Amino acid sequence: MAAKAAPESGVDYHSFANTNDYTVKHLDLDLTADFDNKILKGEAILDIKRLTPKNPELILDTRDIDVTAVRAGIGDSLEEVKFSLGKKDPHLGTPLKIKLPKGANRVAIQYQTAPGASGVQWLEPQQTAGKKHPFLFTQAQAIHARSFIPLQDTPQVRMTYEATIRTPEALRAVMSANNDPEAELDGVFEFEMPQAIPSYLIAIGIGNLDFKPMGERTGVYAEPELLEAAAKEFEDTEDMLEVTEENFGPYRWDRYDLLILPPSFPFGGMENPRLSFITPTVIAGDKSLVALIAHELAHSWSGNLITNASWRDLWLNEGFTTYLTNRIMQFVYGDERYQMEMALGYDDLQADLADRPDKDEIMAIDLRGRDPDEVFSNIPYEKGSLFLYELEQKVGRENFDKFLMEYFNHFAFQSITTEDFVAYLKKTLLQQYPDKLDEARINEWIFQPGIPEGAPHPTSDAFTKLDPIRKQWLNGEIKASDIDTKDWTFHQWKYFLDGMPEKLSEDQLKELDSTFSLTQSKNNEIAFSWLMIAVRNQYQPADARLEDFLTSIGRNKFLRPLYRNLMENGQEETAKRIFEKAKPGYHPLTVKVNSKIIYGD
Ligand code: BES
Ligand code: ZN
Repeated sequence: MAAKAAPESGVDYHSFANTNDYTVKHLDLDLTADFDNKILKGEAILDIKRLTPKNPELILDTRDIDVTAVRAGIGDSLEEVKFSLGKKDPHLGTPLKIKLPKGANRVAIQYQTAPGASGVQWLEPQQTAGKKHPFLFTQAQAIHARSFIPLQDTPQVRMTYEATIRTPEALRAVMSANNDPEAELDGVFEFEMPQAIPSYLIAIGIGNLDFKPMGERTGVYAEPELLEAAAKEFEDTEDMLEVTEENFGPYRWDRYDLLILPPSFPFGGMENPRLSFITPTVIAGDKSLVALIAHELAHSWSGNLITNASWRDLWLNEGFTTYLTNRIMQFVYGDERYQMEMALGYDDLQADLADRPDKDEIMAIDLRGRDPDEVFSNIPYEKGSLFLYELEQKVGRENFDKFLMEYFNHFAFQSITTEDFVAYLKKTLLQQYPDKLDEARINEWIFQPGIPEGAPHPTSDAFTKLDPIRKQWLNGEIKASDIDTKDWTFHQWKYFLDGMPEKLSEDQLKELDSTFSLTQSKNNEIAFSWLMIAVRNQYQPADARLEDFLTSIGRNKFLRPLYRNLMENGQEETAKRIFEKAKPGYHPLTVKVNSKIIYGD
């Protein structure tokens, strides 16, 4: 592969769909959630636009989907047609090839999903907060929509959709669409998504869900056991929405609600339009982890309004979003919080740059032949954000904000490539500020590994003042109980812990733990930072907490480093034992990426 030419801009190497012949414009979905058999069963009707006068086969993406019949035709007169499945690719799934009658503009596919569908998690009541009802959620990004809907699973194609979701009575279904909190719990839920979105933003959640408004346009769906706490924790969401609109342009999606998922959700959050999916592990009680909400909200501009054309261009989604997140945090919580969030992001970036091959440090990353789930890192997030921060610093914040506002407007509801962005930058900022910006440096940021010389280095005074304290304690000059941690924020705790050396003595670990009750920390980020230290140093008093953490939380941002750490610190057996115990409750993605860490390929 190394000898291959560079990836072609705008080509999606992760889809079989022949999007130059046809594009899907609208999806009409009718699915029944069968919790007993863990299958979604029903029909997807696709309205297609023909881009060629010829009549080639229509090729769709699927993964482990059982297609039982396909009809096609014009408008409502559909006839049964022939279809075949191609060869299964381990990363991409299986192409579904459909012979179309001449002029056909509609295809109806009857199918059911596999119980292990990669984009669906079926939860037992035991895995929910209420413990009484099952739960289902989907996670389509990056290439898992094809495991629950046969479609053109590429971010280059945008479609509107409508859906009927049939559930057991007593449960509520919600989607990345126009949710109605008043909908009767009669087992049938109707949805409409009038804005065209890429397939990776189609999402379904089903569970014992209640709704509580947080503001005029914002609210939370959650199990009743979590609803109040979630609404309180995220009460600033409406303010976040307002400041983002004021500074970066109108919110174009009508409502912005949150869906709080069970803790096995493999991510912190997912920006499903109108309804971000959120891990409950960020409900810390003190709003310390709400940057996650700012992040998912920001995707309503960077990602959902302007979408990466292929997964190589993911930095356009995540880098812009990370930059906007910091800005939103500053608007809502002030300068100190902003500095701390930025500094933590910078440290994450440095950590990733330290242990990644050069080729994976390139923002426009070459993903050919690779599974996007395996390549996931902070690079598109934090390097992308730092790049934009440098542009901001160079042209001035006011000018940069004006640029961003126009950018969101210019490419609204389009999918763009890295090269489209660079071309736009050349026509705008580069032309306006030739003395401040240069193209070579921009190319270096985007197409070279590492970060360019002289890149900004965000720091926070609230952090740097902890460095001498940590040092004094490490040198034995002060006791842990001498440290005045009364007013420390979560961010400061994280900085303090993450800056500890590789090895600590048993006495040092005990002293930290007995003084600050770290093993018992209720803040999952602090618990994580502490458990990383504990695993590295084989600190046994934290073993039970580690096992509990790994079996009750499915967020890969925590699980991957912890399992990797166990494997690298002579605790392979522990890693295997805990993983096997936790596996039945993990999401398919969590199983996949952590098996790789534990068992190799
Ligand atoms: N869209 C991402 C999650 C994602 C990215 C899923 C790529 C699959 C492929 C989401 O917005 C995200 O970035 N979540 C982060 C949030 C954090 C950076 C604040 C997460 O889940 O940790
Ligand atoms: Zn994101």
